[in-house]
Amino acid sequence: MSADTPHAGRPRNLRPETLLVHGGTLRSQFGEMSEALFLTQGYAYDSAEQAEGRFTGEDPGFQYSRFSNPTVQMFEDRMKLLEGAEDARACATGMAAVTASVLGAMSAGQHIVAAKAMFGSCRYIVEDLCPRFGIEFTLVDGRDPDNWKKAVKPNTKAFFFETPSNPQLEIIDIAAVSRIAHDAGAIVIVDNVFATPMGQKPLQHGADVVVYSATKHIDGQGRCLGGIVLASTELIKRYYHDWLRQTGPALSPFNAWVLLKGLETLPVRVARQCATADRMARHLLTKKGIGQVMYCGLPDHPQADVIKRQMTSGGQVVCFVLDGDKAAAFRFQNALQVIKISNNLGDAKSIITHPATTTHQRLKPEARAELGIGDGMLRLSVGLEAFEDLAEDIDGALAAAFP
Ligand SMILES: Cc1ncc(COP(=O)(O)O)c(C=O)c1O
Repeated sequence: MSADTPHAGRPRNLRPETLLVHGGTLRSQFGEMSEALFLTQGYAYDSAEQAEGRFTGEDPGFQYSRFSNPTVQMFEDRMKLLEGAEDARACATGMAAVTASVLGAMSAGQHIVAAKAMFGSCRYIVEDLCPRFGIEFTLVDGRDPDNWKKAVKPNTKAFFFETPSNPQLEIIDIAAVSRIAHDAGAIVIVDNVFATPMGQKPLQHGADVVVYSATKHIDGQGRCLGGIVLASTELIKRYYHDWLRQTGPALSPFNAWVLLKGLETLPVRVARQCATADRMARHLLTKKGIGQVMYCGLPDHPQADVIKRQMTSGGQVVCFVLDGDKAAAFRFQNALQVIKISNNLGDAKSIITHPATTTHQRLKPEARAELGIGDGMLRLSVGLEAFEDLAEDIDGALAAAFP
């Protein structure tokens, strides 16, 4: 195997678009152009001595695909180049990455502060799983950095949040909150799914760990699940290397291969999706029957100043609230013809989601009400279709929702 990093022998600062096509590629003796798919669980050793060396770490080759695999390594290396992270570990799903990023770093007797406004499964990790292992938690309205400061305790070990949040697109000031965490001796874990790796770089703003559900924009065509944890070499070694090897949520080589293909086109897809989402947000603002439109690219987003500092685009998700009840929201969804009712996001196919009855169903009604996730709220993940077809679909569904 030989490494084909664009840096090899040419120390140049290549741009993300170039790194996402070439970065991290390992070539076999056949010199294949496309990244090879190493669908293997293990590796044959030349000798017993070599096997021993692999296990002591003196021989740097591959050992077992629960630990590492050439195709998975290509995906990790390409993601490291994109994120500007020293190290990374791929996982089977986004939730495997989130779970590892939190539990791998914490022990019984410690305390985590997390944002209230998060994806339902992320809240489950904090609210249900952490206490079962003796980890205390405090949930805060993360929009005001003071709330994070007030929540700190002597045993606080980590801050965890999504920004923008799922689904209401609340923003957390990564730099301000990271300063508070570091003053308290805590690490900052950011789920960067909604911003996408193209639109926000949490490590540059002070975060310590970034996690992605690669299922979303990184695949981008709704084909497979995947996740990744990115951080410094030191943090990966201290908290995540052994955790992931021994608990085993490894990414399948096949999925890594699919995700590598996704990374090649990520900048083009996400730029187009964000541009269409921006147009869609402005289109929705003109429509009767829609009471509120949330989009990070709108100048009147309540946290537009923070968005300007830490995001480079408004993202591809638009959230809006119908002037109506659950029945109106269901009529709206059922009348869509191009946009699919589903719960993924970042897909080439546009997707409508009713968070109150799907992704955030497990929250108690009071918790949903506190977060503003009402029966009229809908989340639109904008795909790659023609804007005009999407706009016509939305207009038709509005007519059906309010006959
Ligand atoms: C913000 C956020 N984090 C994590 C996940 C989990 O990702 P996965 O479905 O790949 O486990 C999702 C979506 O499902 C999400 O929206």
